[in-house]
Amino acid sequence: MMLAWKWGPALAAGCTIVLKPAEQTPLTALYLAALSKEAGFPTGVINVVPGYGPTAGAALSQHPDVRKVAFTGSTEIGHVILSAAANSNLKRVSLELGGKSPIVIFDDANINEAAQIAHDALFGNHGQSCCAGSRTFVQAKIYNEFVRVAKELAMKKKVGDPFDPTTNQGPQIDQEMFDKVLGLIKSGKDEGAVVETGGERQGNVGYFIKPTVFSNVKDNMRIAKEEIFGPVQSILKFDTLEEVIERANNTTYGLAAAVITNDINKALQFSRAVEAGSVWVNCYDAITPQTPFGGYKKSGIGRELGEDGLEGYLETKTISIKVPALN
Ligand SMILES: *[C@@H]1O[C@H](CO)[C@@H](O)[C@H](O)[C@H]1NC(C)=O
Ligand SMILES: *[C@@H]1O[C@H](CO)[C@@H](O)[C@H](O)[C@H]1NC(C)=O
Repeated sequence: MMLAWKWGPALAAGCTIVLKPAEQTPLTALYLAALSKEAGFPTGVINVVPGYGPTAGAALSQHPDVRKVAFTGSTEIGHVILSAAANSNLKRVSLELGGKSPIVIFDDANINEAAQIAHDALFGNHGQSCCAGSRTFVQAKIYNEFVRVAKELAMKKKVGDPFDPTTNQGPQIDQEMFDKVLGLIKSGKDEGAVVETGGERQGNVGYFIKPTVFSNVKDNMRIAKEEIFGPVQSILKFDTLEEVIERANNTTYGLAAAVITNDINKALQFSRAVEAGSVWVNCYDAITPQTPFGGYKKSGIGRELGEDGLEGYLETKTISIKVPALN
């Protein structure tokens, strides 16, 4: 998907492209590059260079002939790429970085439906999603019942071999991410959040982590502030719309947000107020080729998809012509 988001607009704007896939996942990119040859793209239009960030990534982001870099990844590396651009040829940079996206559930919502949306918003792709709904805010009146349903949904997930069609959740991508997620789970326990289910690795082989649900999460806990990028749902309690707007927005990130309610006024007031590039009402991850996607604040610069997604690959040129006066 990330590859399509880069290739589509670049090619539509008439650019050639050099793609560096993340070092953990080069195979789909190489396979698609082979397919592009078969499909008849001229040699040199689509190029794939697998490698590590400090070598292949740095070579691209510092290169004097590269005019644009579109990066998807961590906020930390976003800083590195932007300085490489600043220190080389001032290439255009668009960044699609981390998030800590809030999903807000008001007490008029259908609890089962809301819990399912919040579950999918977090656990999709084992939580390895920049726009994962990783702060679930639930209004006080339905909080306990919501937590019960959320726990049930997480317990139903089958973790295991990703090649087994009955599996819902495979392993985390590598040792580093596995350790990071387990470290954050430990911090949640230490800081007093309640483990409703999961909270540990699954088995003792591979990078499998049990789908984890924390209740009693407070805004200042690390699990409520830092991007986890794993199957860990944090459920927080709120009372009023004004309060939840302030808390949802009180983050250095601003990639996405969602609100679940039958009250159109609450939905619109929340959507307008919160600083997030995408706001979903009564749904999550509603991403289409037509809908611009990207972040406020440290979630990034620029938008991908939609007409906005083409902007990064185009220049605006002004041509003014003096017309001689009639004599
Ligand atoms: C959201 O947070 C930003 C700072 O991160 C602040 O400037 C803005 O006023 C906040 N908006 C609301 C509605 O709280
Ligand atoms: C915003 O977050 C900071 C630290 O994460 C906290 O100290 C502050 O009280 C929060 N503000 C609101 C309005 O929740």
